[in-house]
Amino acid sequence: MNSRRRFLKNSGLGTMAALGLPYLSPGGPMPQQKKARRFVSTWSHGKVANEMAMAVLNEKSELLSSVEEGVRIVESDPDGRSVGLGGLPDNSGRVTLDACIMRGNGASGSVGALHNIEHPISVARAVMEKTQHVMLVGDGARKFALDQGFPNKDLLVPETRRDYENWKKEEELKLPPINHENHDTIGLIGMDENGKMAGACTTSGWAYKMPGRLGDSPIIGAGLFVDEEAGAATASGLGESIIQIAGCHLVVELMRQGMSPDDACKEAVTRISRKHSKWNKESLQACFIALRRDGSVGGYSLKKGFQYVVTDDEGSEILDAPYLTK
Ligand code: GLY
Repeated sequence: MNSRRRFLKNSGLGTMAALGLPYLSPGGPMPQQKKARRFVSTWSHGKVANEMAMAVLNEKSELLSSVEEGVRIVESDPDGRSVGLGGLPDNSGRVTLDACIMRGNGASGSVGALHNIEHPISVARAVMEKTQHVMLVGDGARKFALDQGFPNKDLLVPETRRDYENWKKEEELKLPPINHENHDTIGLIGMDENGKMAGACTTSGWAYKMPGRLGDSPIIGAGLFVDEEAGAATASGLGESIIQIAGCHLVVELMRQGMSPDDACKEAVTRISRKHSKWNKESLQACFIALRRDGSVGGYSLKKGFQYVVTDDEGSEILDAPYLTK
């Protein structure tokens, strides 16, 4: 492990007191210190997302816009098969998108099963900022998006149209295994110099899913959870398994109790592995990344192959996550 990685994984403040948790600071509030600005995101496509997020933070000093703009880059990439434009459709041939966004103070917005809108993350933000609700799904989410001026857009690209037509010709229409070739969800969590935290998560979900299926990504506490009193986490992999353990909420609560980001993510993955033996090994991948309030980061996946990206003022580093099994 190089020094940079060591720094990223353990800021040197790795005690519970360094978390600044009120009940751990009997001497009164911790002195305010500038925090290291940091973005962490899933898979190698997170590098462009993190770097956009850092550029937006530099320009606007606005963390929520940073995480939103970061994942929008990936939503617009026609080559990614599991996010936004170019994402694989459901079993009826329609690309449906799930996304959520959250501030470290609990404010959050979410959309599920949204179709023909390129940027579900921005619709999720509009739900948070312009409605009294947290989550809109399906036709209601789409009507809201169109009313807000989001343009209608066909999200199939020639390659996904062709792949879908080929899939429909198969004798047995099976859901493909969750794998890292698809690169899966983009989840991005970040912290600014004041210790404010925010996160964004967006996906087209499991290829050829049943219409109406939601994964973990639009569900606050499953695919994303941010509480700047403790930390932030986001997930990738088989949404069903992540929802069933309220994965990201679990990771953040474990960090609140003093666990390191790596250990908290490992515990979530271990719980999935223990509780969800019904998923055959082919179909089960679950991955978590976490950013603790003290700036330390970590990640863990059930199966080998998950990568995550950390970006700070010195640049970006793509890390191979530790895993439970090959
Ligand atoms: N993690 C993305 C999904 O299962 O939809």
